[in-house]
Amino acid sequence: MRNEILNLLKKEEKFSEKTIDEIREIEINDFAEIIKEVGQNPTEYIRREEIVKDLDTEFIGNELYIFKEVMSTNTVAKFLSENGCENGCVIISEKQSDAKGRLGKSWESPLGGIWLSIVLKTQVEHSKLPMITLATGVAVQKTLEKAGITNAEIKWPNDIMINGKKVSGILTEAITKFNTIENIIVGVGIDANFDVNVLSKELQEGSTTLDIELGHRVDENEIIRIFLEEFEKITLMFNDGEFEQILKEWRKNSYSIGKIVEVREPFNKSYDGYVLGISREGALVVEKIDGTLEKVISGECIIKN
Ligand code: BTN
Repeated sequence: MRNEILNLLKKEEKFSEKTIDEIREIEINDFAEIIKEVGQNPTEYIRREEIVKDLDTEFIGNELYIFKEVMSTNTVAKFLSENGCENGCVIISEKQSDAKGRLGKSWESPLGGIWLSIVLKTQVEHSKLPMITLATGVAVQKTLEKAGITNAEIKWPNDIMINGKKVSGILTEAITKFNTIENIIVGVGIDANFDVNVLSKELQEGSTTLDIELGHRVDENEIIRIFLEEFEKITLMFNDGEFEQILKEWRKNSYSIGKIVEVREPFNKSYDGYVLGISREGALVVEKIDGTLEKVISGECIIKN
């Protein structure tokens, strides 16, 4: 974490004359304040005033920090969540240099994408955590619908797909103390306005962008605003315990249900099966070739048909 913050500060004019050791001397609380200051400086492509001008939320985005480049918005969000930010604080970056994907993978985040993290200071049970990821998927799908993309689907647990190609991913991280979840960081990446050829070779074929799908560039600031509003709506539903409603929305736009898949669970457990649906807890329900049912809580699900 320190590394992330040090790198962030080193790029700022105010600190460019200082050595890393001098920056290291700064008190941890002061660090948080400095990060907040930097996050309020104007940025070129993502514009605070454009996002907040019509933003219709109660708490999501009341605190909003935008950076030119960080290693990972999830890491900055985690740091701020532990050092003084509010519920609903949003961290956005125009670029990320070391972003995190699920299952320890990295996430490519060039200029032109939407890379953001939201801090939720909600105490939830561990078993309800997958539901936050599913709910976020619904919020992304609804955002894309409002942007004119009516065929976005959610691939369990966290990919948003358009015509079989990935356009968005979600990484939910819980910050626990004594086994209790204190803060939740919801990280969302949306491929908006860049050429997929800037991604590494292995990602190019399976990725798409909003620009490609709509045939024109999108206003990233508007997409962010819509997403924050949709995210707040679904978070309020989550807080009210309306899990069935969230799952109903998820099922309506599921890419996974009815498909033959290869499930890869942690610890090398893998098998093929048919996706029957999603359980009340947000687990994928898969019928294996031998007819037995499995509830998949975490892992990967590769579509075979
Ligand atoms: C995945 O599909 O593997 C999840 C990708 C999540 C990427 C987002 S981009 C903003 C936030 N910061 C990160 O480092 N990761 C998430």
